[in-house]
Amino acid sequence: MTHAIKVAVTRRLPAQVEKRLSALFDTALHDADAPLSHDGLVACGRGADVLAATLGDKLDAAFFDAVGDRLKLVANFGAGVDHIDVAAANKKGVIVTNTPSVLAEDAADMAMALILAVPRRLVEGVTALQDGKFEGWSPTWMLGRRVRGKKLGIIGLGRVGEAIARRARAFGLSIHYHNRKPINPHIEDELEATYWESLDQMLAHVDIVSVNCPHTPATFHLLSRRRLELMQPHAYLVNISRGEIVDEAALAEMIGAGRLAGAALDVYERGGPNDKLLGLPNVVLLPHMASSTVESRMEMGERVIINIKMFADGHKPPDRVILGLDPDS
Ligand code: DGY
Repeated sequence: MTHAIKVAVTRRLPAQVEKRLSALFDTALHDADAPLSHDGLVACGRGADVLAATLGDKLDAAFFDAVGDRLKLVANFGAGVDHIDVAAANKKGVIVTNTPSVLAEDAADMAMALILAVPRRLVEGVTALQDGKFEGWSPTWMLGRRVRGKKLGIIGLGRVGEAIARRARAFGLSIHYHNRKPINPHIEDELEATYWESLDQMLAHVDIVSVNCPHTPATFHLLSRRRLELMQPHAYLVNISRGEIVDEAALAEMIGAGRLAGAALDVYERGGPNDKLLGLPNVVLLPHMASSTVESRMEMGERVIINIKMFADGHKPPDRVILGLDPDS
């Protein structure tokens, strides 16, 4: 038992995770399941050694200035850390950890579902049926586009991107990717993947684009209007990473104007989708649920506990977020 370590939790976590945290540490759980305000976060973290935080908790420089000196670890429940100012944390001697790898397969399943859903008009079909518009099979009604044989361009071939590529190959898609550097040549060969140093050139070449890089200052609006305009009019965009990577207003306008064939999004620039996106038929919109399985949430909790336990035992937590390296999921 390492009860001397005080852990403050910002949100409701799965019951078993909360139980285990309470058994191992002096844990202050949080009843409410909504993101805390700046003051709420400071009050929660003040006096704790560890803050078990999550997506939506804005841990900026002002937070680290205000929280006091006891806090030494932010153990994030989640892979993405774009809500945390890691540089400000490190400057105050606070380590940040995340939960890499455990959600990659579930997230890739959802990305693959979206890659299939938009060209095959899955949600449009369900909606038409529910709205009483199905009058029997027709040779010309509800025609989508074939997925097999198309080119998938993955922006950010890390753990999730690779898991998507494996699935996509089974569906007959060829794999193209843009990273800062090519991946391990063995994996590239196995996936028969084509590396594009130029994102612009890849965008102009592929039929479906999947966004899988993390959101950092460098990737904000990576898919700007100019880049979206490089995509072919028959192309689709899938984003399960972070909304901020895509200029959402430009995307909605271009789909509305028939300049892009459609999109499937799990994440948005501002909480939820903009109104223009909501009105489009050839768009599938999910409420940030790509990694939402019971299993992944349990395993994310386990990573949080492992990181805190290692820290409590005087070791380096295994999932430290290192500045300058992409926090891969
Ligand atoms: C993460 O872990 O950052 C995901 O976006 C949550 O699903």
